[in-house]
Amino acid sequence: MSAALCTETEISNLVHAFYARVRQDAVLGPIFDAHIDDWDHHLVKLVDFWSSILLRTGRFTGTPMPKHAALPGLNTELFHHWLGLFRTTAAEQPNRAMAEQACAMAERIAQSLWLGYQLKRNPDVRPAELRYG
Ligand code: HEM
Repeated sequence: MSAALCTETEISNLVHAFYARVRQDAVLGPIFDAHIDDWDHHLVKLVDFWSSILLRTGRFTGTPMPKHAALPGLNTELFHHWLGLFRTTAAEQPNRAMAEQACAMAERIAQSLWLGYQLKRNPDVRPAELRYG
């Protein structure tokens, strides 16, 4: 058995720091505020999401693809911006292994959400890809 990548507390710290930054962001803040009424509930869900990814706890039971597909006006720049804030937040976390793994997974999931978004909304156009790093 190898040691766990991180603790639940470290995940919670990452998620809370990231969404605090998102809420203060001039571009992303208003999008989230328009769709999220209960931030406490949303943060619990997002900690479950990252716990499922980083520790394979299987706690997350949401449906990110249709939730994002329902958001109007998402584009490549917004996804890059989201990833930039995520990387900045991850870089501040003391657990470097967790930060690296979280960024790698965030990039893959962002790519897949953005691809799904375009296929759903614009099936006749060749989808754009995100650039990494
Ligand atoms: C431009 C980029 C993004 C924007 C503007 C955005 C915005 C949002 C908003 C407004 C919600 C709430 C939707 C609702 O409850 O109706 C949401 C939910 C969520 N987002 Fe994002 N998001 C973005 C990218 C991402 C990425 C890259 C990830 C993962 C790495 C992610 C993970 C999630 C998850 C797990 C949920 C909860 C889904 C559920 O309730 O089933 N988001 N997002």
